[in-house]
Parts: sequence; structure tokens; C-alpha cells
Amino acid sequence: MGLALRTVVIGWLTYYILSCIHCRYFHPLSKFPGPFWASISNFWKLYILSTKESHTRGIEYHKKYGPAIRVAPNFLVFSDPKLVPVVYHRNADKSDFYSPGVLGRLRPPFQTQDHKEHAAKRKRVAASFQISNLRKMESDVNNMIEKLLSQFNERYVRTEEPLDLSEWVKWFVYDTISAMAFGKSVGFVEQGKDVQELIQNFHDMAPLAGLVAALPNWVNPLMNAPILGDYLMPGPGDGTGTGKIMKYRDDMLRERFQNRHAMAHGDFLDNLMNAKNADGSYMTEAEIKAEAFVLMVAGPDTTAAFIGPFVNYVIQNPVIHARLRQEIQEFEADGTLSKGVVTFEETQKLPYFMACVQETLRFCPSTPVVLPRLVSKGGLEVNGKYVPEGTEIAANPYVIHRDKNIFGEDAFEFNPDRWLEGEERTRNMNKYIMSWGYGARQCLGKNVAQLITQKLCLEMFRRFDFQSRTPEKPWRAENLALMIYWDQWVRLTPAKELK
Ligand code: HEM
Repeated sequence: MGLALRTVVIGWLTYYILSCIHCRYFHPLSKFPGPFWASISNFWKLYILSTKESHTRGIEYHKKYGPAIRVAPNFLVFSDPKLVPVVYHRNADKSDFYSPGVLGRLRPPFQTQDHKEHAAKRKRVAASFQISNLRKMESDVNNMIEKLLSQFNERYVRTEEPLDLSEWVKWFVYDTISAMAFGKSVGFVEQGKDVQELIQNFHDMAPLAGLVAALPNWVNPLMNAPILGDYLMPGPGDGTGTGKIMKYRDDMLRERFQNRHAMAHGDFLDNLMNAKNADGSYMTEAEIKAEAFVLMVAGPDTTAAFIGPFVNYVIQNPVIHARLRQEIQEFEADGTLSKGVVTFEETQKLPYFMACVQETLRFCPSTPVVLPRLVSKGGLEVNGKYVPEGTEIAANPYVIHRDKNIFGEDAFEFNPDRWLEGEERTRNMNKYIMSWGYGARQCLGKNVAQLITQKLCLEMFRRFDFQSRTPEKPWRAENLALMIYWDQWVRLTPAKELK
């Protein structure tokens, strides 16, 4: 080894060792407990994401290390619900955990770190997600529900064969959101398969997304480099899962851009194409594509990750299952439920059904992953210790939702009754619910998701009795920053009249 190279290597090693010593003993977070490797290296975040069970690990680590854990040299994760409103306040900036990476270069609201820039971007699209706007699309949702349930009847009820609910739910949600966004479904439900393996290909990108989120300082310079970046960043039509979905989106959008202000379809795309910035200008084509892409990928998987668990936790407990079926029959008998598919309004009238919905959101949040923010100016006190401005800080909804002080001694059990004990208790629990994120960054698609999930879940339990084929292992699940389920095998029979 030449002298120059030796000097560089020794210099780098010295720098690295000194920075480890600094992180371990002199960094402002050195007074917080946590795994040794996490205190000196960001790679520990990558390790945790790669286990695909960061939520259950989170519970274990908080048991071991206490309510505030150092999970990277400059990153603190907390479990005290009272800190949630403090950390996720209106003006909190997101950290570079949200780097665009696999979702393309432009930053829609979800990936916009600065809170002011985020507010402006969110404002121009927010109206599209209001419930008044969605009512126009309710018939698209009804059509998709009818299509799905008639597939269930034809293929499984008639033949008495079991079905993999996890797959059908994904196909249904991708199709429904595509119909609402672009006026056209992909055809997953109709064909009863993952067309062109679009969904699987997209899920295959999860490890890369994890890499970008965990190591933005290493990966971003490569992704943004002039030539290398073009090669690494997914683009429409390349072989990657993201690229395939981008191409699908571009094919859907091409015709519509030719007459972008016609407002002839009444779908999300009409709204996006006509949304205006504060100065009255329209969004650029590239911005519309980025927003449309987020609709296609942020919505379906998170929504599917609600429906499977809702069914599972209801049917796992015969008492809960019978109470829900009983309530649906009573409301059916008194004429509250429309013929065909129930309306969104009607779903909200069934108290036990709504308690099951709230309990699923609490017990099984779709994104059981830390949602990082940066500590704002002036710093913050956590457990009596000072945390400086610029520190990355986060909580995991799955951990917060299992806090016994807020949710009760049975916080680790699925118990819808906790939501029926009175307004004050419900209000107090809702203050700490993070299933939709928190504060100004809350899910923009919450109304869309509620519309789809409540109508489908109620309609499924109205028409069918469910039985898990393998109750001891109801599914295979992986936490890829959002939960993905496979192999949720159930048997369906027509709903029986209860006495
Ligand atoms: C049960 C279903 C859903 C759940 C549990 C869910 C959950 C979340 C969460 C936790 C966040 C915030 C993440 C953060 O703080 O970084 C979020 C943001 C977002 N979600 Fe959802 N989501 C669901 C469905 C949808 C649907 C159906 C759409 C669109 C059609 C959607 C669009 C968005 C958008 C655009 C954002 C970014 C909002 C912003 O940054 O201002 N979501 N969602």
C-alpha cells in the first residue's frame, strides 16, 4: 500500500473512531439508553427495518431500555403518549427519513420535510379529499364491492373452497382507488389475479425504500448524482416495480392531459388537474404525476392492511363475531341499511361495528413504524433530559396504542368495548391515536379509506359468515414500514339468520 493511501486509510479510521467515541460519550443523546451499536451507527436502523417486525421489537426494546431509547446516534424513540402532541406539533419538520428515493424525485406533501412548504402543497390538493367530494365517487366504490362479493359467491361460496382474503383485499383496494383516482380500475378483481404482478413488483421495492429511509446521508448523494442518479432512480417503464406503476400511471394520464380542464370525469385526477397554487397558477404535469403516484401507492396497501385485520380479529373471538352479526341483523330488520351496498352514513350508525373499526385502528395500525420529526427550535425535555433542536425524534403507533395508562390494563387485547364506555374515555383515547399519523401531517386519504373500508367490512359481514382455515396462524405478516399480509385463508358461507 502506497504512503498516500496508507495515510488516507489511517486518517479515515482515526476520524471514524473519534466520531464513535464522540457519539457514545459526548453527544447530547449519550445520556439516553439504547443498544450499543445504535449509539454509534445509523446501520442499526437498517437492521431493525430488515427484521420486518420493528413494531413488536419496539415493545421489547421499550421494556428493556425504558420510555426513551436512542436508536441511532442522533435519533430518539419514545413511548410516552403524552409526548405525542408535543413532538408532532403543527410546525414540526419531517426528517430526511422521508427522502424521495424509490418514489421518484419530486416531493409531494407526504415527503415534503419543511412544514411551511408542506402546508402550501397540502392546501392545493386537500379539497379533493373532503367527504363532499368523495360522495360523487361512492357509486364507484359500490360497483367494486358488488364485483368483489359476486366473485366471492361464484368462486368460493358456491364451491365451498377456501379463499386467500389477503390477496383479494389488495386487488379490491388497488382497483377501487384506481377507479376513484382515474375513473378506471386495473382489473385485478375481474381477473382474480395480480395483473402484470404490479403489486408484487411494487412490494419488492420495500428493501430499497428501507435503505433510503435508514441511511439518507449515504444513499441520497448517490440517488441525486447526475448520471448515477438517473440510473438508480426509478422511472416510468424501467424494470422496477415502481417504474411499472409509473408507466401505468402515465398511460392513464396521457389522454387526460390533452384536455386537462374539462372536469368531465368527477374523479381525483380532475381535481388534481385543476388544483391551484396560492398564486393562482396550476400544478405542473410533473407535480400532478407525483401526486397521482402517491395516491396509487400510499392508499391501497395501508387500506388493505386495515381490512384483513378487521376480519381476523372479529372472527377470532366468537362473542365479538356474534355481537357484530346480531347488530347488523337488527339494523337490517329495522330498515336502516340500504338494499344493495350500505351507504357510508349508514355504517356510522352501528355503534358496535364502529367500535370494532376503532379498535382495529388502535390494535393493528397499518403503519406500525416510527414516524420521525425534527425537534424544533429551543429543544425539548424528554424524561427530564434535554434534547437539542435538530434531533430526530419519533414514536411508533403500535407502541403508543398499547400504553396501559391510556388504553387500559387490557391494552394488549382486542376489545371493541373500550370504545363504548362513554364519550370522555373515547375522547381521551383518541387524543393519542396515531393510526392516521398526527397533527398537520395526518393522512389526507383518511376519508377515502374510511369510505372504502367501512362499506366493505359491513357489507361482508352482512352477507357472509367467515371462518378462518388456520385460526392458530391466521396469516403471514411483514412490517415493510406498512403491514403487508399474505395467506389469510378463510371459508365463506351465506350469513345465517341469528335467533
Ligand atoms: C386505512 C388506511 C390508511 C392509513 C392507516 C393511512 C395512514 C397514513 C399515515 C400514518 C400517514 C402519515 C405518515 C407520516 O406521518 O409520515 C398518512 C399520510 C398520507 N396518506 Fe394515508 N393512510 C391510509 C389510506 C390512505 C388513502 C386511501 C390515501 C389516498 C387515497 C392516503 C393518502 C395519504 C397521503 C397523501 C398522505 C400524506 C399527507 C401529508 O403529508 O400531508 N392514505 N397516511
